[in-house]
Amino acid sequence: MRPQDVIRRKREGDALSAEEIEFFVQGVTSGEFTDYQAAALLMAIYCRGMDETEQRTLTEAMLHSGDVLDFSDIPLPKADKHSTGGVGDKTSLVIAPLAASCGVAVPMISGRGLGHTGGTLDKLEAIEGYRVKLTLAEFRRVLKLCGFAMMGQTAEIAPADRKLYALRDATATIETIPLIVASIMSKKLAAGLNALALDVKTGTGAFMREESRARELAHALVAIGNSCGVRTEALLTDMNQPLGRAVGHALEVHECVEILRGESHAGAAPVLNLSVELTARMVALAGVEPTLEAARERVTRALGSGAALECFRRNVEAQGGDPRVCDDPARLLQTSTLRAVKVESPRAGFVTQVEAAEIGYAVSGIGGGRTRLEDEIDFQIGFVADAKLGDELRAGDALGTLYCRDDTQGRQAGERIRAAYTVGDEAHVAPVKLIKEVITA
Ligand code: URA
Repeated sequence: MRPQDVIRRKREGDALSAEEIEFFVQGVTSGEFTDYQAAALLMAIYCRGMDETEQRTLTEAMLHSGDVLDFSDIPLPKADKHSTGGVGDKTSLVIAPLAASCGVAVPMISGRGLGHTGGTLDKLEAIEGYRVKLTLAEFRRVLKLCGFAMMGQTAEIAPADRKLYALRDATATIETIPLIVASIMSKKLAAGLNALALDVKTGTGAFMREESRARELAHALVAIGNSCGVRTEALLTDMNQPLGRAVGHALEVHECVEILRGESHAGAAPVLNLSVELTARMVALAGVEPTLEAARERVTRALGSGAALECFRRNVEAQGGDPRVCDDPARLLQTSTLRAVKVESPRAGFVTQVEAAEIGYAVSGIGGGRTRLEDEIDFQIGFVADAKLGDELRAGDALGTLYCRDDTQGRQAGERIRAAYTVGDEAHVAPVKLIKEVITA
Protein backbone atom coordinates (compact mmCIF):
# COMPACT_ATOMS: atom_id res chain seq x y z
CA MET A 1 0.00 0.00 0.00
CA ARG A 2 1.31 3.49 -0.81
CA PRO A 3 0.11 6.78 0.73
CA GLN A 4 -0.83 8.17 -2.70
CA ASP A 5 -3.18 5.22 -3.30
CA VAL A 6 -5.05 5.94 -0.07
CA ILE A 7 -5.14 9.67 -0.89
CA ARG A 8 -6.48 8.94 -4.39
CA ARG A 9 -9.28 6.70 -3.08
CA LYS A 10 -10.48 9.30 -0.61
CA ARG A 11 -10.09 12.04 -3.21
CA GLU A 12 -12.48 10.04 -5.42
CA GLY A 13 -14.96 9.78 -2.54
CA ASP A 14 -14.48 6.10 -1.68
CA ALA A 15 -14.83 4.80 1.86
CA LEU A 16 -11.41 3.80 3.20
CA SER A 17 -10.89 0.30 4.58
CA ALA A 18 -9.69 -0.35 8.13
CA GLU A 19 -6.27 -1.35 6.73
CA GLU A 20 -5.97 1.93 4.85
CA ILE A 21 -6.94 4.04 7.86
CA GLU A 22 -4.58 2.14 10.15
CA PHE A 23 -1.79 2.46 7.59
CA PHE A 24 -2.38 6.23 7.53
CA VAL A 25 -2.41 6.67 11.31
CA GLN A 26 0.60 4.42 11.87
CA GLY A 27 2.42 6.18 9.04
CA VAL A 28 1.72 9.62 10.51
CA THR A 29 2.85 8.51 13.97
CA SER A 30 6.05 6.89 12.72
CA GLY A 31 6.84 9.60 10.16
CA GLU A 32 6.53 7.20 7.20
CA PHE A 33 3.65 9.28 5.85
CA THR A 34 5.22 12.66 4.99
CA ASP A 35 3.52 15.84 6.21
CA TYR A 36 2.47 16.76 2.66
CA GLN A 37 0.90 13.34 2.10
CA ALA A 38 -0.91 13.47 5.45
CA ALA A 39 -2.10 17.01 4.67
CA ALA A 40 -3.38 15.90 1.26
CA LEU A 41 -5.34 13.06 2.84
CA LEU A 42 -6.74 15.40 5.52
CA MET A 43 -7.96 17.73 2.78
CA ALA A 44 -9.50 14.79 0.90
CA ILE A 45 -11.31 13.76 4.13
CA TYR A 46 -12.38 17.38 4.63
CA CYS A 47 -13.91 17.50 1.14
CA ARG A 48 -15.31 13.96 0.92
CA GLY A 49 -16.21 13.17 4.53
CA MET A 50 -16.17 9.78 6.26
CA ASP A 51 -18.96 7.37 7.10
CA GLU A 52 -19.54 6.14 10.66
CA THR A 53 -17.43 2.99 10.21
CA GLU A 54 -14.50 5.03 8.91
CA GLN A 55 -14.87 7.52 11.78
CA ARG A 56 -14.83 4.73 14.33
CA THR A 57 -11.80 3.08 12.75
CA LEU A 58 -9.98 6.42 12.62
CA THR A 59 -10.83 7.14 16.28
CA GLU A 60 -9.63 3.70 17.40
CA ALA A 61 -6.47 3.88 15.31
CA MET A 62 -5.63 7.30 16.81
CA LEU A 63 -6.47 6.06 20.31
CA HIS A 64 -4.12 3.08 19.87
CA SER A 65 -1.35 5.24 18.41
CA GLY A 66 -0.34 5.73 22.07
CA ASP A 67 -1.00 4.52 25.60
CA VAL A 68 -4.48 3.61 26.81
CA LEU A 69 -4.59 4.07 30.56
CA ASP A 70 -5.74 1.17 32.66
CA PHE A 71 -7.35 1.99 36.00
CA SER A 72 -8.89 -1.44 36.53
CA ASP A 73 -7.18 -1.58 39.95
CA ILE A 74 -9.56 1.18 41.09
CA PRO A 75 -12.81 -0.62 41.91
CA LEU A 76 -15.12 2.19 40.73
CA PRO A 77 -16.70 2.99 37.39
CA LYS A 78 -14.70 5.61 35.46
CA ALA A 79 -16.44 8.53 33.82
CA ASP A 80 -15.58 11.92 32.43
CA LYS A 81 -17.17 14.91 30.76
CA HIS A 82 -15.93 16.83 27.77
CA SER A 83 -17.01 20.24 26.59
CA THR A 84 -16.41 21.62 23.13
CA GLY A 85 -15.58 24.90 24.88
CA GLY A 86 -17.01 28.32 25.39
CA VAL A 87 -16.65 31.58 27.29
CA GLY A 88 -16.85 31.27 31.07
CA ASP A 89 -17.23 27.52 30.61
CA LYS A 90 -15.88 26.27 33.93
CA THR A 91 -18.08 23.30 34.79
CA SER A 92 -15.21 20.77 34.98
CA LEU A 93 -14.11 22.31 38.28
CA VAL A 94 -17.49 21.54 39.81
CA ILE A 95 -18.24 18.31 37.95
CA ALA A 96 -15.03 16.41 38.74
CA PRO A 97 -15.32 16.65 42.57
CA LEU A 98 -19.10 16.29 42.43
CA ALA A 99 -18.97 13.07 40.41
CA ALA A 100 -16.13 11.76 42.58
CA SER A 101 -18.16 12.41 45.73
CA CYS A 102 -20.95 10.28 44.19
CA GLY A 103 -18.73 7.20 43.74
CA VAL A 104 -17.45 7.71 40.20
CA ALA A 105 -13.71 7.88 39.49
CA VAL A 106 -12.90 10.78 37.18
CA PRO A 107 -9.52 10.60 35.42
CA MET A 108 -9.78 13.99 33.72
CA ILE A 109 -7.28 14.74 30.98
CA SER A 110 -7.88 18.36 30.04
CA GLY A 111 -6.53 21.02 27.75
CA ARG A 112 -5.10 24.54 27.78
CA GLY A 113 -6.99 27.57 26.59
CA LEU A 114 -6.39 29.27 23.27
CA GLY A 115 -8.12 32.23 21.65
CA HIS A 116 -11.49 33.11 23.16
CA THR A 117 -11.93 29.95 25.26
CA GLY A 118 -10.20 29.09 28.50
CA GLY A 119 -8.73 25.72 29.47
CA THR A 120 -9.34 23.75 32.66
CA LEU A 121 -5.62 23.25 33.29
CA ASP A 122 -4.93 26.98 33.17
CA LYS A 123 -7.84 27.69 35.51
CA LEU A 124 -6.54 25.18 38.06
CA GLU A 125 -3.14 26.84 37.92
CA ALA A 126 -4.79 30.01 39.20
CA ILE A 127 -4.76 28.19 42.57
CA GLU A 128 -1.41 28.92 44.20
CA GLY A 129 0.87 25.86 43.86
CA TYR A 130 -1.57 23.64 41.94
CA ARG A 131 0.33 21.24 39.66
CA VAL A 132 -1.25 19.83 36.51
CA LYS A 133 2.00 18.35 35.18
CA LEU A 134 1.76 14.96 36.85
CA THR A 135 3.49 11.72 35.99
CA LEU A 136 1.14 8.86 35.25
CA ALA A 137 2.05 7.33 38.62
CA GLU A 138 1.10 10.59 40.40
CA PHE A 139 -2.12 10.86 38.40
CA ARG A 140 -3.07 7.33 39.47
CA ARG A 141 -2.21 8.06 43.12
CA VAL A 142 -4.31 11.24 43.17
CA LEU A 143 -7.20 9.47 41.43
CA LYS A 144 -7.15 6.72 44.07
CA LEU A 145 -6.89 9.20 46.91
CA CYS A 146 -9.51 11.76 45.85
CA GLY A 147 -11.70 10.08 43.25
CA PHE A 148 -10.59 12.53 40.63
CA ALA A 149 -7.33 13.76 39.17
CA MET A 150 -6.55 16.46 36.65
CA MET A 151 -3.71 16.59 34.17
CA GLY A 152 -2.80 17.51 30.62
CA GLN A 153 -2.34 15.28 27.64
CA THR A 154 1.06 13.62 27.68
CA ALA A 155 3.22 12.77 24.66
CA GLU A 156 2.16 9.14 25.15
CA ILE A 157 -1.58 9.79 24.79
CA ALA A 158 -2.92 9.72 21.20
CA PRO A 159 0.34 10.99 19.62
CA ALA A 160 -1.26 10.73 16.15
CA ASP A 161 -3.73 13.45 17.20
CA ARG A 162 -0.92 15.79 18.17
CA LYS A 163 0.61 15.53 14.69
CA LEU A 164 -2.66 15.59 12.81
CA TYR A 165 -4.05 18.51 14.79
CA ALA A 166 -0.96 20.61 13.97
CA LEU A 167 -1.29 19.71 10.29
CA ARG A 168 -5.02 20.49 10.32
CA ASP A 169 -4.33 23.84 11.94
CA ALA A 170 -1.83 24.67 9.19
CA THR A 171 -4.01 23.46 6.31
CA ALA A 172 -7.49 24.83 7.20
CA THR A 173 -8.88 21.36 7.83
CA ILE A 174 -9.94 21.73 11.48
CA GLU A 175 -13.65 22.27 10.87
CA THR A 176 -14.81 18.89 9.70
CA ILE A 177 -16.85 16.53 11.84
CA PRO A 178 -15.05 13.19 11.19
CA LEU A 179 -11.68 14.71 12.09
CA ILE A 180 -13.06 16.58 15.12
CA VAL A 181 -14.76 13.43 16.39
CA ALA A 182 -11.63 11.28 16.03
CA SER A 183 -9.49 13.99 17.65
CA ILE A 184 -11.74 14.53 20.68
CA MET A 185 -12.70 10.91 21.24
CA SER A 186 -9.23 9.39 20.78
CA LYS A 187 -7.96 11.55 23.65
CA LYS A 188 -10.99 11.02 25.89
CA LEU A 189 -11.12 7.26 25.37
CA ALA A 190 -7.42 6.98 26.26
CA ALA A 191 -8.40 7.50 29.90
CA GLY A 192 -10.07 4.06 29.96
CA LEU A 193 -13.62 5.29 30.60
CA ASN A 194 -16.90 3.45 31.11
CA ALA A 195 -19.04 6.56 30.60
CA LEU A 196 -18.77 10.00 29.06
CA ALA A 197 -21.06 13.04 29.20
CA LEU A 198 -20.50 15.57 26.45
CA ASP A 199 -21.37 19.24 26.49
CA VAL A 200 -21.59 20.40 22.89
CA LYS A 201 -21.98 24.14 22.81
CA THR A 202 -23.58 26.27 20.16
CA GLY A 203 -23.85 30.02 19.74
CA THR A 204 -21.76 33.18 19.58
CA GLY A 205 -19.08 31.92 21.97
CA ALA A 206 -18.91 28.34 20.74
CA PHE A 207 -16.49 26.53 18.51
CA MET A 208 -19.57 25.64 16.41
CA ARG A 209 -21.78 28.70 16.23
CA GLU A 210 -24.42 27.13 14.06
CA GLU A 211 -26.89 24.94 15.95
CA SER A 212 -27.43 22.41 13.15
CA ARG A 213 -23.65 21.79 12.87
CA ALA A 214 -23.28 21.47 16.65
CA ARG A 215 -26.17 18.98 16.70
CA GLU A 216 -24.52 16.99 13.91
CA LEU A 217 -21.26 16.96 15.89
CA ALA A 218 -23.07 15.84 19.06
CA HIS A 219 -24.74 12.94 17.22
CA ALA A 220 -21.43 11.86 15.69
CA LEU A 221 -19.61 11.99 19.06
CA VAL A 222 -22.35 10.00 20.80
CA ALA A 223 -22.39 7.37 18.04
CA ILE A 224 -18.62 6.88 18.12
CA GLY A 225 -18.40 6.84 21.92
CA ASN A 226 -21.05 4.14 22.19
CA SER A 227 -19.68 2.08 19.34
CA CYS A 228 -16.27 2.16 21.07
CA GLY A 229 -17.91 0.68 24.18
CA VAL A 230 -18.18 3.86 26.27
CA ARG A 231 -21.70 4.81 27.36
CA THR A 232 -21.95 8.31 25.94
CA GLU A 233 -24.57 11.05 25.95
CA ALA A 234 -24.43 14.68 24.86
CA LEU A 235 -26.19 17.84 25.88
CA LEU A 236 -26.51 20.50 23.22
CA THR A 237 -26.17 23.72 25.24
CA ASP A 238 -26.48 27.44 24.73
CA MET A 239 -23.31 29.52 24.38
CA ASN A 240 -24.82 32.83 23.27
CA GLN A 241 -23.50 34.59 26.39
CA PRO A 242 -20.83 33.77 28.97
CA LEU A 243 -21.77 30.82 31.17
CA GLY A 244 -22.38 32.25 34.62
CA ARG A 245 -20.79 35.59 35.53
CA ALA A 246 -17.03 35.03 35.58
CA VAL A 247 -14.72 35.06 32.58
CA GLY A 248 -11.02 34.78 33.46
CA HIS A 249 -9.03 32.22 35.39
CA ALA A 250 -9.04 33.20 39.07
CA LEU A 251 -12.56 34.64 38.78
CA GLU A 252 -13.85 31.38 37.32
CA VAL A 253 -12.25 29.22 40.02
CA HIS A 254 -13.75 31.60 42.58
CA GLU A 255 -17.20 31.14 41.05
CA CYS A 256 -16.80 27.35 41.17
CA VAL A 257 -15.60 27.24 44.78
CA GLU A 258 -18.59 29.37 45.75
CA ILE A 259 -20.85 26.85 44.01
CA LEU A 260 -19.18 23.97 45.86
CA ARG A 261 -19.66 25.91 49.11
CA GLY A 262 -23.36 26.43 48.36
CA GLU A 263 -22.83 30.21 48.37
CA SER A 264 -23.08 31.10 44.73
CA HIS A 265 -24.46 34.31 43.26
CA ALA A 266 -27.80 34.02 41.42
CA GLY A 267 -25.97 34.85 38.17
CA ALA A 268 -23.95 31.63 38.52
CA ALA A 269 -27.12 29.48 38.37
CA PRO A 270 -26.46 28.29 34.77
CA VAL A 271 -23.04 26.93 35.87
CA LEU A 272 -24.61 25.16 38.83
CA ASN A 273 -27.55 23.74 36.85
CA LEU A 274 -25.44 22.55 33.94
CA SER A 275 -22.86 21.01 36.28
CA VAL A 276 -25.56 19.11 38.17
CA GLU A 277 -27.13 17.83 34.96
CA LEU A 278 -23.86 16.71 33.37
CA THR A 279 -22.72 15.06 36.61
CA ALA A 280 -26.06 13.28 37.01
CA ARG A 281 -25.66 11.91 33.49
CA MET A 282 -22.15 10.66 34.31
CA VAL A 283 -23.43 9.02 37.51
CA ALA A 284 -26.35 7.34 35.71
CA LEU A 285 -24.32 6.29 32.66
CA ALA A 286 -21.64 4.84 34.96
CA GLY A 287 -24.35 2.72 36.61
CA VAL A 288 -23.95 4.17 40.09
CA GLU A 289 -27.68 4.99 40.14
CA PRO A 290 -30.35 3.12 38.18
CA THR A 291 -32.15 6.20 36.86
CA LEU A 292 -31.31 9.74 35.89
CA GLU A 293 -33.75 11.02 38.51
CA ALA A 294 -32.00 9.07 41.28
CA ALA A 295 -28.64 10.33 39.97
CA ARG A 296 -29.85 13.94 40.09
CA GLU A 297 -30.96 13.47 43.70
CA ARG A 298 -27.65 11.92 44.68
CA VAL A 299 -25.68 14.70 43.01
CA THR A 300 -27.81 17.39 44.64
CA ARG A 301 -27.25 15.76 48.06
CA ALA A 302 -23.48 15.55 47.51
CA LEU A 303 -23.37 19.24 46.72
CA GLY A 304 -25.63 20.25 49.61
CA SER A 305 -23.78 18.13 52.20
CA GLY A 306 -20.40 19.65 51.35
CA ALA A 307 -19.06 16.24 50.22
CA ALA A 308 -18.09 17.63 46.81
CA LEU A 309 -16.27 20.57 48.43
CA GLU A 310 -14.30 18.15 50.65
CA CYS A 311 -13.40 16.12 47.59
CA PHE A 312 -12.17 19.27 45.85
CA ARG A 313 -10.13 20.20 48.94
CA ARG A 314 -8.44 16.77 48.99
CA ASN A 315 -7.58 17.10 45.32
CA VAL A 316 -6.18 20.63 45.65
CA GLU A 317 -3.98 19.44 48.50
CA ALA A 318 -2.90 16.28 46.63
CA GLN A 319 -1.97 18.26 43.52
CA GLY A 320 0.11 20.75 45.52
CA GLY A 321 -2.37 23.64 45.67
CA ASP A 322 -3.37 25.83 48.59
CA PRO A 323 -6.49 24.18 50.08
CA ARG A 324 -7.34 27.33 52.05
CA VAL A 325 -9.14 28.60 48.92
CA CYS A 326 -11.88 26.12 49.83
CA ASP A 327 -12.54 27.97 53.11
CA ASP A 328 -11.98 31.44 51.79
CA PRO A 329 -12.43 31.66 48.01
CA ALA A 330 -11.63 35.40 48.13
CA ARG A 331 -7.97 34.33 48.56
CA LEU A 332 -8.03 33.53 44.84
CA LEU A 333 -8.58 37.16 43.92
CA GLN A 334 -5.97 39.90 44.26
CA THR A 335 -8.50 42.65 43.65
CA SER A 336 -6.47 45.27 45.49
CA THR A 337 -3.72 45.05 42.85
CA LEU A 338 -6.15 45.41 39.95
CA ARG A 339 -8.12 48.13 38.28
CA ALA A 340 -11.88 47.51 38.30
CA VAL A 341 -13.51 49.15 35.29
CA LYS A 342 -17.28 49.38 35.04
CA VAL A 343 -18.36 48.59 31.46
CA GLU A 344 -21.51 50.60 30.89
CA SER A 345 -24.48 50.22 28.63
CA PRO A 346 -24.37 53.11 26.15
CA ARG A 347 -28.16 53.39 26.04
CA ALA A 348 -31.41 52.30 27.63
CA GLY A 349 -33.08 49.17 26.28
CA PHE A 350 -32.89 45.40 26.36
CA VAL A 351 -29.88 43.13 25.84
CA THR A 352 -30.75 41.48 22.53
CA GLN A 353 -27.45 39.95 21.47
CA VAL A 354 -24.10 39.11 23.08
CA GLU A 355 -21.06 38.27 20.97
CA ALA A 356 -19.65 35.98 23.64
CA ALA A 357 -16.44 35.16 21.72
CA GLU A 358 -15.62 38.88 21.64
CA ILE A 359 -15.70 38.97 25.45
CA GLY A 360 -13.29 36.03 25.52
CA TYR A 361 -11.00 37.73 22.99
CA ALA A 362 -11.15 41.02 24.90
CA VAL A 363 -10.01 39.32 28.13
CA SER A 364 -7.36 37.21 26.44
CA GLY A 365 -6.13 40.20 24.39
CA ILE A 366 -4.97 41.97 27.57
CA GLY A 367 -3.20 38.95 29.04
CA GLY A 368 -6.13 37.06 30.58
CA GLY A 369 -5.73 34.23 28.07
CA ARG A 370 -3.53 33.01 25.26
CA THR A 371 -3.39 34.16 21.68
CA ARG A 372 -0.39 31.87 21.05
CA LEU A 373 0.31 28.56 22.75
CA GLU A 374 3.48 29.88 24.40
CA ASP A 375 1.82 32.98 25.95
CA GLU A 376 1.90 33.45 29.75
CA ILE A 377 -1.46 34.08 31.37
CA ASP A 378 -2.30 36.75 33.94
CA PHE A 379 -4.74 34.71 36.03
CA GLN A 380 -6.23 37.76 37.73
CA ILE A 381 -7.48 39.46 34.58
CA GLY A 382 -11.11 38.89 33.71
CA PHE A 383 -14.64 40.14 33.38
CA VAL A 384 -17.67 39.65 35.61
CA ALA A 385 -20.83 39.87 33.53
CA ASP A 386 -23.88 41.42 35.15
CA ALA A 387 -26.14 41.87 32.13
CA LYS A 388 -27.76 38.83 30.56
CA LEU A 389 -29.74 38.35 27.38
CA GLY A 390 -33.19 39.90 27.78
CA ASP A 391 -32.24 42.16 30.73
CA GLU A 392 -33.63 45.68 30.72
CA LEU A 393 -30.97 48.37 31.27
CA ARG A 394 -30.80 52.14 31.66
CA ALA A 395 -28.06 54.12 29.96
CA GLY A 396 -24.96 53.83 32.16
CA ASP A 397 -26.03 50.60 33.86
CA ALA A 398 -23.26 48.04 34.24
CA LEU A 399 -22.87 45.38 31.59
CA GLY A 400 -20.23 44.08 33.95
CA THR A 401 -16.87 44.80 35.57
CA LEU A 402 -13.54 44.33 33.88
CA TYR A 403 -10.54 43.51 36.11
CA CYS A 404 -7.32 44.64 34.46
CA ARG A 405 -3.89 46.10 35.22
CA ASP A 406 -4.03 49.66 33.89
CA ASP A 407 -6.08 52.31 32.07
CA THR A 408 -4.84 51.31 28.63
CA GLN A 409 -6.03 47.74 29.15
CA GLY A 410 -9.25 49.09 30.62
CA ARG A 411 -9.98 51.21 27.54
CA GLN A 412 -8.90 48.55 25.05
CA ALA A 413 -10.81 45.61 26.50
CA GLY A 414 -13.66 47.71 27.95
CA GLU A 415 -14.54 49.09 24.53
CA ARG A 416 -14.42 45.67 22.94
CA ILE A 417 -16.70 44.21 25.62
CA ARG A 418 -19.13 47.12 25.34
CA ALA A 419 -19.32 46.52 21.59
CA ALA A 420 -20.03 42.82 22.19
CA TYR A 421 -23.42 43.69 23.72
CA THR A 422 -26.31 44.86 21.57
CA VAL A 423 -28.80 46.89 23.58
CA GLY A 424 -31.93 47.46 21.52
CA ASP A 425 -35.59 48.34 21.81
CA GLU A 426 -36.85 44.79 21.48
CA ALA A 427 -38.48 43.80 24.79
CA HIS A 428 -39.29 40.25 23.83
CA VAL A 429 -36.02 38.35 23.52
CA ALA A 430 -36.73 34.63 23.46
CA PRO A 431 -35.88 33.16 26.89
CA VAL A 432 -32.53 31.38 26.89
CA LYS A 433 -32.87 27.62 27.03
CA LEU A 434 -29.58 26.47 28.50
CA ILE A 435 -30.01 22.81 27.56
CA LYS A 436 -31.39 22.78 24.05
CA GLU A 437 -31.42 19.06 23.45
CA VAL A 438 -30.27 15.74 24.89
CA ILE A 439 -28.63 13.33 22.48
CA THR A 440 -28.56 9.72 23.62
CA ALA A 441 -27.41 6.56 21.90
N1 URA B 1 -10.92 19.90 19.98
C1 URA B 1 -10.10 18.84 19.73
O1 URA B 1 -9.52 18.27 20.65
N2 URA B 1 -9.95 18.44 18.47
C2 URA B 1 -10.57 19.03 17.43
O2 URA B 1 -10.39 18.59 16.31
C3 URA B 1 -11.41 20.13 17.70
C4 URA B 1 -11.58 20.53 19.00
